[in-house]
Amino acid sequence: MDTPHRKGHYGTDAPYAPLLMVAGALACIGLIVFAHIMQLWLTVVILLVLTAVYLHTTWRGKFRVWRLLLDGMAWRGDERVLDLGCGRGMVLLMAARHVPRGRAVGVDIWSTKDQAGNAMAVTLDNARREGVADRVELHTADMRQLPFEDDSFDVVVSNVAIHNIGTRAGRELAIDEAWRVLRPGGRMLIADISRSRDYQQRLVGFGAAPVRRNLGWRMWWGGSWVSTMLLDVRKEKMV
Ligand SMILES: C[S@@+](CC[C@H](N)C(=O)[O-])C[C@H]1O[C@@H](n2cnc3c(N)ncnc32)[C@H](O)[C@@H]1O
Repeated sequence: MDTPHRKGHYGTDAPYAPLLMVAGALACIGLIVFAHIMQLWLTVVILLVLTAVYLHTTWRGKFRVWRLLLDGMAWRGDERVLDLGCGRGMVLLMAARHVPRGRAVGVDIWSTKDQAGNAMAVTLDNARREGVADRVELHTADMRQLPFEDDSFDVVVSNVAIHNIGTRAGRELAIDEAWRVLRPGGRMLIADISRSRDYQQRLVGFGAAPVRRNLGWRMWWGGSWVSTMLLDVRKEKMV
C-alpha cells in the first residue's frame, strides 16, 4: 500500500540542535566582522550546511525513509503496532494506515525538548487529520515500563527515541520491554542515532539475529557520527 501525502503537523526534532548550530555560525560571523578572523568562514559554511541537512532530515527525510520501510512490509491489516516514543506521530500514523482492522498504539512522555510542540493532544489531532483516529491509541508511559501484556504486539517500531534515555541500563530496559511485548513471529524496527550496537547486543542476548544497517543521507542528522542506524529483527516462534 502506498502512503499518501501527509496532512498532520509533525514539528522539529530536538529544536535546540539547529538553533545551537545557527547561533555558532552567527558567533563566528561576529568574530570575522569584529576580530577579522577570516579563517572562520569555513566553520560558518560547515555549520550552515549541517543545519540545512538536519532540518531536511527532520522535516522531510525521516518521512521518506519510514514510508519506504513500512510500505516494504507485508501487512495483513489487522496487526497491533506499538511505537516507542511516538512523539507527534510520524511513524505511528503512517503505520496506522497499514492496519485498517488493527491498532496503532503510541507511548511517550511528551518531552518538548526532544520534539517541538510534543503533546498527546497534538498527536491525536494529527491522527484525525490523517484519517486514522479510529485505530490509534495513545498512552503517557515510559518505554522502560510498558503498560502492556507480554506478546501483545505484532510489530514494534521506534524512531530516534531510545537514545534520549540517559543511562545504558535505562536503554537496555527499553529494549527488554520492547522484546517482552513483541509476540513470537512479530517484527521490530528500531532506528536510532547512537547506541544501536548496544541494542543489537541486547537483542542477541535474547537469541535474536537483528540486521543492522545505515539508513543513509535522508536520516543524516548533521554528520556521519550521527547518521541513523536501523535494527530490523524478527522474534522467532517457539517450536
Ligand atoms: C526525537 S523525538 C522522535 C519522535 C518520533 N519518534 C518521530 O520520529 O517523530 C523522541 C521522542 O522520544 C520521547 N521519549 C524520550 N524518552 C522517553 C521515554 N523514556 N519513554 C517514552 N518516550 C520517550 C520524547 O518525548 C519524544 O517524543
